[in-house]
Parts: sequence; C-alpha cells; structure tokens
Amino acid sequence: MTRRNMLAGNWKMNKTISEAINLAVRLKYACNSVDDRDVVLCPPYTSLKPVAETVDESPIEVGAQNMHYERSGAFTGEVSPDMIKDAGADWVILGHSERRQYFDENEELLARKLRTASDEDLKVFYCIGETEEQRDAGQVEDILKTQLEAALSGFGFDDFEELVIAYEPVWAIGTGNTATPEQANEAHGVIRDVISNLFNPGVAEKIRVIYGGSVKPHNVQELMAQPDIDGALVGGASLSADDFADIVKYDLEDEISLSDL
Ligand code: 13P
Repeated sequence: MTRRNMLAGNWKMNKTISEAINLAVRLKYACNSVDDRDVVLCPPYTSLKPVAETVDESPIEVGAQNMHYERSGAFTGEVSPDMIKDAGADWVILGHSERRQYFDENEELLARKLRTASDEDLKVFYCIGETEEQRDAGQVEDILKTQLEAALSGFGFDDFEELVIAYEPVWAIGTGNTATPEQANEAHGVIRDVISNLFNPGVAEKIRVIYGGSVKPHNVQELMAQPDIDGALVGGASLSADDFADIVKYDLEDEISLSDL
C-alpha cells in the first residue's frame, strides 16, 4: 500500500503574528504546486487564524499544538477544540514530549484529549517516543507500546477524522542527533505491530507513521527512503521557509526560488 506523505511543521513557541504570516506566505508560494503529499503548519495559538487565512485556497492545512479536553468552561489559559476549528485549523498535535515533560501530560490525560479530538472531528498527530535513558536500557518497544495502548485503547481507528502517529525520540528533538534511518524505521515497525494488535492489520498498513527529531534538508531524503516512514514532523527547520520548503520537496526538482518573493 502506498501511503501519502505528510510533512508537518511544529513551530512550537516561536513567531509573532507578522512573522508567522510572512513564513506562511513564503511557504504557500513555495509549496503551491505540491499536490502528492500533505503539508500542515502548526503555529502558536495566536497565529492560527492569520496563518489559516494566509494559506486558504492552497493545499496547506493548519494545526494547533495542543488543546484542552473540555469544550468550554473555567479553565484559565486553555483553548478548546471549537476555538481551534473556529480559527481555521483542522489538526491538533497531542502528546508531544515537551507537553509530557514540562506540563506533566500523561496517557490518562491524553486519552481524554484524544476522545475530544475524535468527537470534534479534529485530525490528530499523536506523538510518542522514548528518552535516551529508556533507549539505553533497551525499553524502546515497551515505551512505544505503553504510550500507544494506554492512550488509544477503547478507540476504533475510524473514530478519528484522521490519526497520524509521530515517532519522536526525545533524545533526537532539538539536539541535532537524528535517529538513523534504520533506527527510525525499526521503531516505526514496532508502532505498526502495536497498531495491528490495537486496531487490526489493515489499519497498521494504512496508518501514517511520521518521524520527528532533528529533521533537516540534508537528512530528510534518507529518512523518507525507509519503507515505514511516511513523513516528518519538523521543529527547528520548519521555522525557515527555505529549509521547510526543501524538506517538503525533498525528492522534487525545484523550479521555485524563494528569493523571487
Ligand atoms: P526538531 O526538529 O527541532 O528536533 O523538533 C522536532 C519536534 O519536536 C517536532 O514536533
């Protein structure tokens, strides 16, 4: 089965509104002719609407980096799924390791967020991945299994508008230490095995599993050449229009130069 590639940019806590619009304008221009893969931009909440408006009528979609599991109420500082959709975003990132690490998000909480995202028809990137200590201790399989099973059991794959699993080994995020293509592919194979048991073998074949962790223009091609890697979730390199456009178009002849803009 051929799975459509997914290239997504997680801008994390970067870009003011004007900077975000500028980046989105450049990416819309650079990615205009790309129609055989999906491109999603995930700016901070404040820039969701301006970025969604900027890429409107282009193939680029927009996602939030987090959301609350309740639909409304007394949750100071939080943002609901309705607000995200209202801003023009179709996607949400859940379970990012920075949320797990700095904001104590665990599988129980993430299961609630996944339920709300599924009920509200938001498309989900569900992020999982081991720390360096866990890898050194030989626990990669166990960790991936726990992070998938504890959050996703009780769901059917069809409950989701779309579900993409992002394998992001914590030791590779923001460090420049990319997983080797073989390491990443092996982990993606483990993820497919768990998904096969959790849902069924057909879902394991069709679900997209993307890799995140120091993806750059110079290493994207060898990662994408692996059979079980269906795209990338990009942090640092997604903040530069040139770099992210190069990543999106990693295997295409490029006639568009951003210096024309
Ligand atoms: P970097 O690409 O900066 O390593 O970040 C990856 C990431 O966390 C994407 O969600």
